[in-house]
Amino acid sequence: MVENRPASVTLGRGFWTVTAVLALLSAFGIYFWTVTPIEVVMPIVGAQPGEQVDQLLRFMSASGTALFIFVAGYLIYFSIAFRARPSDSPDAVGVQVHDNRKLEFWWTAIPTLFVILLSILSIRIWAQIQLAQPTSGLVVESLGHQWYFTFRYPQINGEVTGEMHLPVNTPVVLNVTSSDVIHSFWVPAFRLKADMIPGLINTIRFTPTVIGRYPIICTEFCGTDHGLMNATVPGVGGKPNPGAEFVVVDSKADFQTWYHKTQLANANASNALPSTSGTVALTGGDAAAGKALFAQKCSACHALGPFSQRIVGPGLKDVLHDPTHPNLVDGDPATPADAAKILQQGFTGPLGTMPNATSNGLTDKDIANLVAFLDSMK
Ligand code: CUA
Repeated sequence: MVENRPASVTLGRGFWTVTAVLALLSAFGIYFWTVTPIEVVMPIVGAQPGEQVDQLLRFMSASGTALFIFVAGYLIYFSIAFRARPSDSPDAVGVQVHDNRKLEFWWTAIPTLFVILLSILSIRIWAQIQLAQPTSGLVVESLGHQWYFTFRYPQINGEVTGEMHLPVNTPVVLNVTSSDVIHSFWVPAFRLKADMIPGLINTIRFTPTVIGRYPIICTEFCGTDHGLMNATVPGVGGKPNPGAEFVVVDSKADFQTWYHKTQLANANASNALPSTSGTVALTGGDAAAGKALFAQKCSACHALGPFSQRIVGPGLKDVLHDPTHPNLVDGDPATPADAAKILQQGFTGPLGTMPNATSNGLTDKDIANLVAFLDSMK
């Protein structure tokens, strides 16, 4: 093995010129990432800490660009400056540089400091997303399914689909999980992503700051229609994409309107809006809905037979029209209003105990439907 160059290495005639050019290009790259509007590469920021995520992205892109320009630039320059010459012997090897203490110190120290700085910047944002404990705000859940998302809210019965409404400027704690396979919940405008894993709850925290409608995208391959769990994907044949779902950030007033509307729409047999005071308005009670609700909520304790047919409580078939029992178990006359009162406030007496509407998860509308059903049996 023959070393074809002297041990003291000259970097070549053009080294400092090349360095100056690379420094200029890097400066331009850093400038580009500093001033370019983030909307060029990402949607607008709809939630905090999205802006900090963007700043981290700018920092990483700027430093990555500068690093790439220097590494690639020197690679090209050195491969030209130290190329094999026709005069070199066939088994010649290049210059072997080693034991340069100064060089080794700096090429260890600079990347180490850089990685530490990057860690500090990242961990600060990570802590906000994962660990911050807002004292007020909204706790929402999202479930991944093959192939759609559903959303759950406190005091709203069942699952909401299509749109996850959130109030603007309100801290949100979002718990995500999956009902089947692994999905991943991503809202690009919020700069947030969380894997949805069966049997595991992942939590992210953020505060929506801009009213708008933002696509949700599943970023974990979850089966044949994974691609449809993406609100930016159009449907087939001019139809809307069935898996397109959005986060909708509303004004606080609009959110309340949506929330109450959804609460009522989902309220049948629900635990929404329970109350145990005030008079229940019975007009508009729907006997058919009451019958369905009776099967869910009442039939474990009450038969649809005569009074004497007890399960836990008495049979209720003739409760409002039984000449032999003109009064209800609490002694009040067997009228719809008094039946509603028992449903609302519960009953404790010699026959046993019936929980109130809160415990039974009955809304005023549920009670009106149940009373209409009881009244309809004659
Ligand atoms: Cu759900 Cu991919």
